[in-house]
Amino acid sequence: MSVVAHGIRTLGVLGSGQMGLGIAYVSALRAKVPVLLHDRSSVQIQKGLELMDKLLEKDVAKGKIKAEEAKEARDRITVVPPVQGLSGLRDADMVIEAVSESLPLKQAIFSRLAAELPSDTILASNTSSISITKIAASTIPEGQSSASKEGLQSPARVVGLHFFNPVPVMKLVELIAAIQTSQETMDRAKAFAIACGKEVTSSQDVPGFVSNALLMPFINEAIMCLEKGVATRDDIDKTLKLGMNHPMGPLQLADFIGLDTCLAIQQTLYNGTGDSKYRPSVLLERMVDAQWLGKKSGKGFYDYSD
Ligand SMILES: NC(=O)c1ccc[n+]([C@@H]2O[C@H](COP(=O)([O-])OP(=O)(O)OC[C@H]3O[C@@H](n4cnc5c(N)ncnc54)[C@H](O)[C@@H]3O)[C@@H](O)[C@H]2O)c1
Repeated sequence: MSVVAHGIRTLGVLGSGQMGLGIAYVSALRAKVPVLLHDRSSVQIQKGLELMDKLLEKDVAKGKIKAEEAKEARDRITVVPPVQGLSGLRDADMVIEAVSESLPLKQAIFSRLAAELPSDTILASNTSSISITKIAASTIPEGQSSASKEGLQSPARVVGLHFFNPVPVMKLVELIAAIQTSQETMDRAKAFAIACGKEVTSSQDVPGFVSNALLMPFINEAIMCLEKGVATRDDIDKTLKLGMNHPMGPLQLADFIGLDTCLAIQQTLYNGTGDSKYRPSVLLERMVDAQWLGKKSGKGFYDYSD
């Protein structure tokens, strides 16, 4: 079996939230590539770097890695500050986007990435549910048709590379091709995920892909059980933990994913399929309205304020 080289000498990571930071971490530590880390918020970048230091320290303390490896990994991270914008990612051979789960936001970002970065930079999205085909189409240069040389070439380097949370722990990456994605882009993106120490599965570009088309209806049903008073929060989670051997219950898992992200994924499933079985629960919508976003905001189904 021939091994495809990913050829990534420098990686760009866009978004320094829980996923972007995790992707930067495995890329620097496992794939050993220099990482340019960018976010629009310097507070988020600072929070991300603090988390990375903590994760590296923990791995050293547990004897999983040597202190020199941790230092080398940390030294591979370069911050691209908000003022520098996306052009600060120009030296990357591949950019992995991990900003909030919103189609208009991702379309705007991919359009700008395509305009500001070299034409052969691989553009990957860590989206949980959004159409890679729509994201890829947003990279067609302004004024060009989808059938022009540039209109064909630019979307061909866009791919879905879906890591799981927490990235340093979860073994899987889901690989998603848009209808425009080239085989070379797929092969290189897959090789990079493997270099990060991950196993790779492939999914068609359908709303939620395999992972969230299965997981989100399950989480939504759990929230509806709570909403209808079928059982308490603790009994719902305990049922799945002790009865089905899940490592955590669905309500706690929703908190860990982020309730805003869960809602956005459910809306993509609902709007993308038109199937009422995917309609998000009212309780989830209300919690997101209240900015109760789960672990990342300190309050969700559980309290994380300390
Ligand atoms: N949370 C999960 O369990 C999980 C799992 C797999 C995939 N994902 C996907 O990963 C992506 C990020 O999720 P997350 O959980 O890390 O979210 P998050 O809320 O923790 O982080 C999002 C980050 O994006 C940044 N951002 C927003 N707009 C930006 C812009 N215009 N330019 C630069 N940065 C911008 C924010 O400042 C924030 O730091 C989403 O697409 C999500 O669906 C999430």
